Formats: sequence, structure tokens, C-alpha cells
Amino acid sequence: VFACKGLVQALPFPAPNFNNCNNYQGCCPVPYNGTISEKLYVFDRKLPLRTRPAAHLLDDAYIAKYQRAYRLLRALPDSDPRSWKNQAKLHCAYCNAAFNFDVLTSSGRNSTMRFEVHFGWMFLPWHRFFLYFHERILAKLLGDDDTFALPFWNWDNQSPDPPLANAIPLAFANPMYDKKVQSSLYDERRSRCTKWPNLVDLQNALECANQTLELQTTLRQWNNRLMYTQLVTAAPISRLFFGESYKLGSAPGRGAGTLEVSPHGNVHLWTGNPNATIPFSDMGILQYAALDPIFYAHHANIDRLWEVWKSLPGGNRKDLSQADYLNTQFLFYDENAALVKVQISQALNINNFRYNYEGVPNSWIHEGS
Ligand code: C2O
Repeated sequence: VFACKGLVQALPFPAPNFNNCNNYQGCCPVPYNGTISEKLYVFDRKLPLRTRPAAHLLDDAYIAKYQRAYRLLRALPDSDPRSWKNQAKLHCAYCNAAFNFDVLTSSGRNSTMRFEVHFGWMFLPWHRFFLYFHERILAKLLGDDDTFALPFWNWDNQSPDPPLANAIPLAFANPMYDKKVQSSLYDERRSRCTKWPNLVDLQNALECANQTLELQTTLRQWNNRLMYTQLVTAAPISRLFFGESYKLGSAPGRGAGTLEVSPHGNVHLWTGNPNATIPFSDMGILQYAALDPIFYAHHANIDRLWEVWKSLPGGNRKDLSQADYLNTQFLFYDENAALVKVQISQALNINNFRYNYEGVPNSWIHEGS
């Protein structure tokens, strides 16, 4: 950062240094011994288009494959940077004081700021990359580079018809789903409110009340209204949807966008166990959230809703275009355990990633009409 006429010029964040990580809360990912290419990550243009399916509509064969992917991931040794634990650590590192940046403040002093991808404009692109590399790692472990795609948890779909989209998908719900071994998609640290067929409470208003059929009807209306408010009426322009700017030199947490606060945050809190030793773990705590496999299905839905928002009529619903946003860089481990550099400009066009989403009704769009 350089000072100019007494003012600090804000710059986009460069990629953090994985070998200079502050191991606060044990979040540092496996350090990297190779040299990180100065060049940006190159997407595989020849990758066939893969469709991310709705989690409640998966057939038995897909569920079996999906569960096998997580068994293989959980079996990688901790020393492997792609391992289950290391992916959760990576998420934690990018949100929990692991990476710090020295900056010159407006008063001319040096100050250390922690780096954080939540609560601001980095939220959507960072998680898109995180899921993409997670998905490529699972595909590689399965030996299925061409077709494997992460399912999305379609909790915004309030249809009362079975299979319920807005309850916890059965593949995650039952620890003995395939009757032989405990499901690799199960996490014992979930709230008792998540018990199937309870419905997601997007406002977190019910505090796990007994969900009678009558209450579920009300809950569906509330959920639809929350979706309509957060994506339609409260987010007609980019800044409201994506959240506040966040550049080198500014403190983290300047303000989350509407999708990030809620439904995103509330689904995390609804899923985590308030009575766990560490309350609200795993899903309700940033540090542990990615230890629950449902994290990735939850974020696939968030990622899908980013595309849905861009397609809504009215307002100015476009991606942000500030240079400091586009040039912000991150590092991720790819499916070959190489540390690669990406930047936000690469995240905005979903076609780069060679996936799309199974079509589902987004009926909350019409809530206000
Ligand atoms: Cu990185 Cu849903 O949070």
C-alpha cells in the first residue's frame, strides 16, 4: 500500500502467503513447498459441462457415488492438502485471523489487519472457487472427472410435494442410509431441529418448535417472503446484493450482502447444534462449518442463487465491476494438490467452471405479485 498526499490508496488484496499463516485456532492449511506460479489458474476448457443436481431429487445410484466420494475424501491422510480436514481448515483460515496483511493506515502507522472473506463483497466469488476445487478433488478421487458434480440443497423451494426440497435431504439425514456403513454425509453435530421431515426455518424464528402441519404451512410462507425480500426487494442493485467493498487497508466485516446475511447465515445457524460442546458447531460456526458435508450442498445453492439473482428482472442486477474487486486474488489447492492462484474476475462467468444447475422452480420470485 502506498500513501499519496496523506491518503492511503486502497488496492485489491493479493493472494495470502500460505507459508506465513498465523495458526490461530489451528486453521492453517498444509504449507506449500512448490513454487506458486505467477500466472493465474487456467480452466480446463475441454471439461464436459456437468450439471449440479438438486439434492432432494438424487437417485440411489447418485447417492451411493456421492457417499463414496466423501468416504474417499475422509480417508486421505491429514498431510494431504486436499484432505477432508484441510479443506475445512482452508475455509477457517480464510475467515479467522490466519492470514494477516500489514497496511499503512491513514495516520501513517503500520497496522496488521486480519483477512476475512465473509461479510463483504468477496463472499460469493471466494465460495464459488472453494466449491469448484472441492468438487474437482471429489471427482478425481472417484476417477470421474467428466461427470461428477456437487448436489445443491434446494432449501428455498417450499413445495409441499415429496421429496421435500426444504427439509434436510435424505442422503444427509440418515446415518445408516445405505444400511451397511454410516453415511459419510452425516454429521452428528447437527441441531435436533434438522430431523427429517422438519423444514428449514430461513428466518430462524421458531427455535425448533414442534412442526405441526399447520405450522409448516406458515413456515413455508415465511420462507418464501424472506427469499423475496432478500433477493428481490432488498437487493435491486449490486452493492446491496454482494455487500460492501473490501480492499487492502480496510478492516474486514464492512457489511454483508442480502444473500449472505440471510438465508445463508440462517441456514448455517439452523443446522448447527446449539447444545454442542462448542455451541452451534459444526455448521453454525465459521471455524467448523466445512466439516459438515452439507456445507458444500448449502453453498452450491447459494452459488445457484447468485445466478438466479442476475437473471431477475428490474433494478441493476449485475456483477460488480470495480477493478479492486476484479483483481482480488486467492490461493487454493487443486485436485492434484498444487497450489493455484485465482482472481475474482475469473469467478463471474459461470461458464468458465463448466457446470450449471438442474432447473428447479424459484417460486418465491412471485411472492410479491
Ligand atoms: Cu464461508 Cu457459509 O460460509
